[in-house]
Amino acid sequence: MSIGSVIIWLGTVGLTLYASFRTREPAREKSAQWLIVAGGIVFPTVLLAGLLSYGLSMLPDMLAPAPPDSMRILVRGEQWWWRVRYLAADGHPVDLANEICLPVGTPVEFQLESPDVIHSFWIPALGGKVDMIPGRQTRLRLEPTRIGEFRGVCAEYCGTSHALMGFPVLVLEKEDFARWLKRQAEPAHESTEPLAARGKHSFLASGCGACHTVRGTPADGVVGPDLTHVGSRRTLGAGLLANELDDYVHWLAHADTLKPDVHMPAFGMLPPPELRALAVYLESLQ
Ligand code: CUA
Repeated sequence: MSIGSVIIWLGTVGLTLYASFRTREPAREKSAQWLIVAGGIVFPTVLLAGLLSYGLSMLPDMLAPAPPDSMRILVRGEQWWWRVRYLAADGHPVDLANEICLPVGTPVEFQLESPDVIHSFWIPALGGKVDMIPGRQTRLRLEPTRIGEFRGVCAEYCGTSHALMGFPVLVLEKEDFARWLKRQAEPAHESTEPLAARGKHSFLASGCGACHTVRGTPADGVVGPDLTHVGSRRTLGAGLLANELDDYVHWLAHADTLKPDVHMPAFGMLPPPELRALAVYLESLQ
């Protein structure tokens, strides 16, 4: 298509230059008609029909069911983050958020949903983008062929913080991936550090558990991202901040200004030592 469009572009520019500089006399009616019919009607019709049938011929491949050994991952676009659920073969789903790990050389099928507005799921380095449409499930199949860290984004304007919903995608060796998924499936690993324990107390006392789940604790909310292993993730706030202590404090105190219109309220009213303890607790959830 690129080569074809360059040839057509050169032809068009050539004709324009020819018409502008070479011919001083008006074209004969006959040849003008011929040019319009051939170049303006027949040529584009044949060319576009060819491209259309080529595009349609690829469709059955894209709509066919995923190979049986595919990994299935359910992703929901939220306001403005990503709910991620690994649909394991043994029937026990693994919930996480805002980060996706994939085993290299394994076909993956993403099942894409949205509860309210249209988002578009896109990992430019790995595959095409597919809209997440409320009321239906769309699918994206891909197979990562090289190890590395990539970035996924939302590619459909979905509201104020549309540009602030990114997610890292890590393609790992199969063994590393299996280890990672096993760990993600486990309940939270509690830290024995006093400050983390104080943070946990504050987390539960401040009502964070009404929106967030930390498996293995009374926190079982499903409004916001699952935080069971939030400390192990590359980023905080869906690709917004690094996963560092200071970033947790910053996020907790100013979530509403860092990500306008986010559902998460800011907890700037908490005294700084308590914010610090909360940050230590969250970062300890590896
Ligand atoms: Cu979600 Cu744009």
